[in-house]
Amino acid sequence: MKKQSVDIEKLLKSMTVEEKAAQMMVLPYSHMTKERAYLWIERGIGAFLHVWGEEARALRAAAAKTKCGIPLIIGIDAVHGHCLNDCATVFPTQLSMACSFNPALIKQMARMTAKEVSADNINWTFSPVLCLGRDLRWGRVAETFGEDKYLAGELGRAMIEGYQGDALSDKGSILACAKHYIGYGEATGGRDSYDTEITERKMRAELLPPFEKAVKAGCKTFMTAYGSLDGVPCTADKRLLRDILKNELMFDGFVVTDWNNIGHLIGEQHIAKDFREASRIAVESGNDMMMATERFYERVVDLFKSGELSESLLDDAVRRILSAKAALGLFEDPCKAEDRAYIGCKEHMELCRTLARECVVLLKNENRILPLSEQVKRIAVIGACAEDILAHYGDWTFFTHPSENKRAVPKRPCVTFLDGMRTLASRYGKELTYQRGCEILSEDKAALDAAQRAAEQSDVVFFVCGDTIERTGEAKDIALPELTKPQKALFCALKQTGKPIVTVFISSKPLCLQEEAKGSAAFLTCFNGGMFGGEALAEAVFGEFSPCGKLPISFARAVGEQPTYYNTLSGWHCKDYADLSEKKSFVFGEGLSYTEFAYSDAVFDSETLTLKVKLKNAGTRQGKEITEVYFEDLISSVMTPVKQLIAFAKTELAAGEEKELIFAFDKKDFSLVNTKCERVTEKGEFRIMVGGSSKNEDLISLPFSIEE
Ligand code: BGC
Repeated sequence: MKKQSVDIEKLLKSMTVEEKAAQMMVLPYSHMTKERAYLWIERGIGAFLHVWGEEARALRAAAAKTKCGIPLIIGIDAVHGHCLNDCATVFPTQLSMACSFNPALIKQMARMTAKEVSADNINWTFSPVLCLGRDLRWGRVAETFGEDKYLAGELGRAMIEGYQGDALSDKGSILACAKHYIGYGEATGGRDSYDTEITERKMRAELLPPFEKAVKAGCKTFMTAYGSLDGVPCTADKRLLRDILKNELMFDGFVVTDWNNIGHLIGEQHIAKDFREASRIAVESGNDMMMATERFYERVVDLFKSGELSESLLDDAVRRILSAKAALGLFEDPCKAEDRAYIGCKEHMELCRTLARECVVLLKNENRILPLSEQVKRIAVIGACAEDILAHYGDWTFFTHPSENKRAVPKRPCVTFLDGMRTLASRYGKELTYQRGCEILSEDKAALDAAQRAAEQSDVVFFVCGDTIERTGEAKDIALPELTKPQKALFCALKQTGKPIVTVFISSKPLCLQEEAKGSAAFLTCFNGGMFGGEALAEAVFGEFSPCGKLPISFARAVGEQPTYYNTLSGWHCKDYADLSEKKSFVFGEGLSYTEFAYSDAVFDSETLTLKVKLKNAGTRQGKEITEVYFEDLISSVMTPVKQLIAFAKTELAAGEEKELIFAFDKKDFSLVNTKCERVTEKGEFRIMVGGSSKNEDLISLPFSIEE
């Protein structure tokens, strides 16, 4: 460990209450004048957000020269690459990268993102999102790792390790931020920022585990969610922030509120009458840094001077912030930054390509229509998503933040699906025609007719569909998570041609599209795959590689089937809805390959809690398989999910090759949260399941028991 050059206790003692209050603030540079920003620098502000490049460097240099001289941190939403900068590498979104089930690659992508961010004089990213995506109405599903707590925890850990590096003091390391703590994705009705109706027991059982892993991974910052749990706003929840996060989990970093959460305690959540009261509640509850609430400063100084806020509370918050700055090595070098050449460099774009390929999920492939055979001569690519950069990029890029600018032009390559198909069609000697067919949000009769004609003259039709930025993102929840009407009409028109349809789904999240899934010969997706997502999908179509992604999230059959996730508790009154009995199109953990994988010889040793299974590539080409391990606690003091993921592994095998996979567990892996809110492993009967998806028919199931 590098020796810290600063004595934090001494520094704390030397600070005025005004300086302490200022340290506890992060303000959006993008929302204020330069003069005001420098006034805050003089006051000793702790952090700014959404500023980069030379402006960020100048702010940091100026902070170091003020009277208290405390270095500044600067935060940004680099959530799938440093994408607010138009020169940066745009990686697949979190939901997309989760399809790879590949923590090693995700760690590398986070490391590269950290370097790009740091090269732009920023040292803090508001990432990863560890909320679960279980309600498709919610606008921010794309920012999650999907519906499963274990997967989210493992991938979140990898991301944190990548951002923060071996040591935060290393060049190119930045602070990670686990957000949004907690329950943000589970809000009633899928409504962003609304209340989450959940008990503490269930919160601990289902939502806390990824955040616990973040603490264990050394994540230095946590962000509170906008919403509330059982009527208590997360920002005002002392139990959540102090008792659970800081005392029980021993989180030693600092907690930042989300955007003006203090203000929301007054105007929206109505638990405080004014900024003075809201500021007091926020500090007492355990928030250390307040985002985008300028009025906090004077109120907190006043509260302190009138004796309503104790100095020890302020000191605890400031100590945590200063420790993070010390860990970053900022007291030695307040302007520490990576080399600018890293931003959008070749090496990063190459990894982005590799990751995008691992994110492609093939969900249906009737009669092995893919990869395209020699017999296919004429291809029709239909659908506006095929050439829509935003559909490929997803949210949180320079197109959408800090302010919406759809006319922006990326300074790095972006290969859309259409670009990728054109390149490969010409390489493979196939004729390709393209028609938009409709706009995503509006019909166009002439375009529809032209698309139908193009389809009639082709051997295979690629129906490229999805959502648009108008229907996804923060405060953009939708009541109808399905394809827009024009896209549905387009699909029907294409279907009438009788030509085989391959659906390519470029979307922020799953939508209810049973009809389209049933009516397609093949279906593939990578959600928002980033700058090379389109290229990767096209390469998969032509068989340049065999798809190996699996779904981190289930597709619902109908809009009313929300929330949707595989690991439910069981009920018994009718196996299904009275008006919905067909099988789900695509569920968690599912994904096909161009080769075949077979599992055999599974054995579980209850003494050592070790699972062994043989995996064979029984097909004719090389491929990678994601093996999933689930368990079920058969008799327990509280009900537990029908199955829960507890391990996964990705294995590359040549045609005909076989390998034995070994998974070792600990008793804790089979635990539950009991009615006293304690995590315990109860003795008794269990079963462990291993295979290629969460579907029973794809799993080998073995009984075992755990003794006292
Ligand atoms: C979002 C956060 C984000 C913050 C800063 C908020 O509106 O909810 O996820 O980190 O803004 O941009």
